[in-house]
Amino acid sequence: MKILLLGSGGREHALAWKIAQSPQVDKLFIAPGNAGTGNCGENVAIGVNDFEVIKAFVADKKVDMVVVGPEDPLVKGIYDDFKNDERTKNIPVIGPSKAGAVLEGSKDFAKGFMQRHNIPTARYKTIDGNTLEEGLAFLETLEAPYVLKADGLCAGKGVLILPTLEEAKKELREMLGGMFGNASAQVVIEEFLSGIECSVFVLTDGKNYKILPEAKDYKRIGEHDTGLNTGGMGSVTPVPFATEEWMKKVEDRIIRPTVDGLAAEGIDYKGFIFFGLINVKGEPMVIEYNCRMGDPETESVMLRLKSDIVDLFDGVAKGDLDKRLIEFDERAAVCVMLVSGGYPQEYKKGYPITGIENVEGSMVFHAGTALKDEEVVTAGGRVIALSSYGKDKAEALAKSFEEAKKIQFTDKYFRSDIGSDL
Ligand code: AMP
Ligand code: GLY
Repeated sequence: MKILLLGSGGREHALAWKIAQSPQVDKLFIAPGNAGTGNCGENVAIGVNDFEVIKAFVADKKVDMVVVGPEDPLVKGIYDDFKNDERTKNIPVIGPSKAGAVLEGSKDFAKGFMQRHNIPTARYKTIDGNTLEEGLAFLETLEAPYVLKADGLCAGKGVLILPTLEEAKKELREMLGGMFGNASAQVVIEEFLSGIECSVFVLTDGKNYKILPEAKDYKRIGEHDTGLNTGGMGSVTPVPFATEEWMKKVEDRIIRPTVDGLAAEGIDYKGFIFFGLINVKGEPMVIEYNCRMGDPETESVMLRLKSDIVDLFDGVAKGDLDKRLIEFDERAAVCVMLVSGGYPQEYKKGYPITGIENVEGSMVFHAGTALKDEEVVTAGGRVIALSSYGKDKAEALAKSFEEAKKIQFTDKYFRSDIGSDL
């Protein structure tokens, strides 16, 4: 079969690597892809939100399935767009409908959904320009620190955690006043939850689901979780506190009620659900939903998925995911992200990357790279994810750090404390 994968980051390279291993795949296209995905299939220069061009390509090349990496096209409704076009209505899109992607696209919707289905999450109130006074009063009922979230998509920047009531009130006014444009026209005020976070992933056909290996990601730029937030500096799987007992709570209280709740609300959802969880004194609670796989979690999770991912996707498309097999690799897997100096603030692009060919026994997943006159150059803040196996986390990390030395580009930086908190 022919598959088109949408996206261009490390997550998509890891997905492309896994998809390309399937005996069912004759041809894999990646749009737009990067210098690394070109080794797993054929990159095509189409943007992930160019639905008309994507549909024309799918019809022309007789593509059998579309897998969506990032949230943007999902929130914009690519699933529905395919369904409503004669040429593509029978081509499965792995990713939820626009109504399902709202789980990520609107924090207010996600909170309301959790409340309706008794899914454990932080206490909250949604405020808009007309209810500022209620918001200020609600803040008074909470304890520091204070969590403010822009309702809409903000490329991971829409959450503020404020140490004092004064700052929280000031920032609430600023958010409502347009700090994040229309995305913060509504703001979710939330009780702060204290604990360690864990990302859990599910693939669902809307009725049945399979749970993928869980992972922990590292968001801050500095060692020991200091400094600015990034798109993710590394990830580790498995997560020690996600024991069988803990995961049973997650499944019973969070995963099943979510999948059943979507079905009960008539929401068409065939794709990944990413549960951003936090472990509060042994009890899992939901911080957020995403309608896609995580990045950089995918760059370690894919290493631990032994089964044919295309067979699982086929189960999603046909609605018989319960009949498909999912098996995990028992080893640990980690990813360490090599980033451009200066990131997540200003940084330079276009530096040549050397030494990739010397890496042995680890996976080199490209995140922000491009080809310039046959040469691989840096093209983003997060440049390369180095993913490794080990008998345990320590062995896998040692391997990634060792291989990280072999890849060179100007001002390369990575965190050497990934996984050390677990
Ligand atoms: P989100 O975009 O909702 O994932 O939020 C970004 C980050 O803010 C999360 O990964 C958490 O580290 C933190 N965060 C969000 N909500 C809360 C909360 N209620 N309590 C504590 N930390 C939170
Ligand atoms: N790793 C967090 C995310 O993908 O949103």
